[in-house]
Amino acid sequence: MKSSFFLFFVFLLPLIRAQVPHWGPCPEPAVQPAFNLKQFMGRWFEIAKLPAQFEKGRCIETNFTLTTDSSIRVVSSEILKGEVRKIEGTGVIEDMKNPAKLGISYSYVLPYSPYWILSTDYVNSALVYSCTDVLRLFHVDFAWILSRTRTLPDTTIEKAREVFATNNIDVSRMIASRQQGCDKTF
Ligand SMILES: *[C@@H]1O[C@H](CO)[C@@H](O)[C@H](O)[C@H]1NC(C)=O
Repeated sequence: MKSSFFLFFVFLLPLIRAQVPHWGPCPEPAVQPAFNLKQFMGRWFEIAKLPAQFEKGRCIETNFTLTTDSSIRVVSSEILKGEVRKIEGTGVIEDMKNPAKLGISYSYVLPYSPYWILSTDYVNSALVYSCTDVLRLFHVDFAWILSRTRTLPDTTIEKAREVFATNNIDVSRMIASRQQGCDKTF
């Protein structure tokens, strides 16, 4: 018993914490049925994300605005070192038969990255997933729990994690995003 604890801390924990890509192709999660892009527009706050990112920005939020029936303007902002930083991108529904599968790009020179709405009620929370295959050998993925307000009840977060997990998305390393001290002016 004692020695297995020792093994866990010395050998396994560093592996679990490392940013390792997952083997195999991307999972194919179910997405929000009859997704309504218009209802999804507006302001969403980032409550939790996968994986932990290098930059330590906080108060991350995104404002989506409809530009046509199937394309959107995306403005994300965060507070980093006491300054508000914004980045702007565009999003599209790439296939009208699959409206919950958006593509978002933050630069004209970059292709659209998947931005799939797995589930949302439009007024409280949304679960978003992005996954890219690398040679069908492994995949790198991102996941977000978004909210219309800066906090969500723990039960909602727990449920969200279960939805990811039942879709074969490993959210064990998902971390909470900081949404405290955001409303003062800079
Ligand atoms: C979101 O974007 C729209 C259109 O640019 C703007 O009118 C609105 O004020 C923005 N909302 C927030 C919270 O930034």
